[in-house]
Parts: sequence; C-alpha cells; structure tokens
Amino acid sequence: MEKLKHLVETQQLSSEVIFELFHEADELQKSDKKPLKGKILATIFYEPSTRTRLSFESAMMRLGGRVLTTENAKEFSSAVKGESIEDTTRTVASYADAIVMRHFEEGAAARAAAISPVPIINAGDGGGQHPTQALLDLYTIYKECKKVDGLKIAMIGDLTYGRTVRSLCYLLGKFNDIQIIFVSPENLKMREDIKEYLKTHAIRFEEETDLNKVLPEVDIVYMTRIQKERMLPKEYENAKGKYVITKENLSLIKPDSRVLHPLPHVEEVDLPVELEQSDPRIAYFRQVRNGLYVRMALLNHLLAA
Ligand code: CP
Repeated sequence: MEKLKHLVETQQLSSEVIFELFHEADELQKSDKKPLKGKILATIFYEPSTRTRLSFESAMMRLGGRVLTTENAKEFSSAVKGESIEDTTRTVASYADAIVMRHFEEGAAARAAAISPVPIINAGDGGGQHPTQALLDLYTIYKECKKVDGLKIAMIGDLTYGRTVRSLCYLLGKFNDIQIIFVSPENLKMREDIKEYLKTHAIRFEEETDLNKVLPEVDIVYMTRIQKERMLPKEYENAKGKYVITKENLSLIKPDSRVLHPLPHVEEVDLPVELEQSDPRIAYFRQVRNGLYVRMALLNHLLAA
C-alpha cells in the first residue's frame, strides 16, 4: 500500500489509503497492541481545540507513544517573539517523531510540511482544510449508513469558512452517485474552488435556502457552526440563527438518516440533551469517538515501523 509522508489536505488520500485507514481503525479499537512505544508526538495548536488535540494525544498514548504539547501556541510559543512556522517546525521536529499542527492561517500546514523531516498532520489551517475531521466524518458515514456511494448529503451553515465541509467535499469526490445540497446564509456560501472540484469529479450539487424542504430528502444532515471568530461582527449578525435543528424540524428527518456535526455546536443545534442522547439519528457523539480510532489509525500509518 502507498504510504503518506504528511497529511495536509484530503486530495492526497486515495480510496485505497482511506479504506486501509478505516480497516485499521476497526482493528485498533479492539486491540491493546502498542506499536508506537518509544515514539513522541508533538501537538502544536495556535487555535483552540477540545476534540482534535485531545483525541490525537489519547490516540498516541493508547498506541504506546508519548506526547509533547503546546495548547495555546499563539501566546505560549516563540511565535510571540516572531518565530516563523518554518523555524518552529524544524525545532519541534528535533524533539518529536511527528507534529500535529492547528494554525489560524490557511496554508500553514503546507508550509510546515514543505520543510519538515517528520510527518506533519494538518489539524485545521484557518478556513483551509481539516483532513482528519473529514476522515472521521467519512468513517462515521460509512459505519452508520454501511455505504458512501449513492448517498444524499446536506451541508448546512458556514460553508465559506468551514474547513470541515471543504475537506469532506474533496473526499466525497472519490465516490459515486453522491448528491450534495448546500444550505447556507447568503453571505456564507460554499466557495467556487470546491464547486469546480465537484463538477470535475461528477458530483451533483445544488444550493437551497429552505432547510425544512431539504431535511426529509437527505441521508446525512451535516450541520456546522457559524464561525464568529472568522468574520466581521456584521457578517455574523446576518448569518446566526438562520438554520437551526430543533425538536420540531428533527421530526422531518428520516428514521435511518443521521445528523452529524464536527462540533462544538452552539445555537445551530437546539435540542434537549436527553434527546441528543437517546435519538439514534443524532450521531455526533459517536462521530467524536470515531475520531479517536481514525487518528490512531493515521498515527500508526505514519509512524509504525
Ligand atoms: N471538530 C473539531 O475540530 O473540534 P475542536 O475544535 O474541538 O478540535
């Protein structure tokens, strides 16, 4: 099987690698093997995170490795003194066998990968990509629906700055007979580069404004948060609260369809906690757990002998 050196964007992933990682994720969650004993992972996060950083760290520890971390690198690394991404990467690569990096600038992970002697994993680069999120999203879709080909998927919310939906579109371009419906506020539509990519990969897509019309039609409802931190206050005011999953419109979703969300969710999901815990259509906390297994598989792929 081909082996990745870094993971910066989902276009790098062949179908063969994707399904090999999914198979490995299935195997590793049942195993107590420690294939990464003696290896060190560095996690450098210039933006906040709960799931991505902690799941990578948990994944590394479960595989027998150890972790170095800087959880607020924007303030607590030498970036404050003006150190470049390249110099930070070369430095951290002297201490660790792989680096997981989240940065606020689109293209930051690619810059790090261009000079790094150790694997770089992009944990989110501004409004660019979040490839491991897309992998765990796809793994969740595959596990929940038992297939990917032929699915109808709604992507809802902040589609302009949403790096998870961008990465997921690139992955879906590798499958057949997919239909995507984009539902977003007028000022947060999916960008043209993704639409062009989908056209060249024969993925049907449309833009819709009526969420309640879309909900009964789709197999996957992929909600996203309006990312206040990436836009002007006026832009946020124009977009917030336009598309919300509530107890009422949840009833429009088919019994075997699934609601996914990369999380964290805020006002775009307004459901009682008991319903989130009991309704099998709500899949986003299973999605969180799947992230651990997919990241174990990726670390094993990049680092195991
Ligand atoms: N989905 C995701 O990237 O979550 P965090 O920001 O908590 O890592």
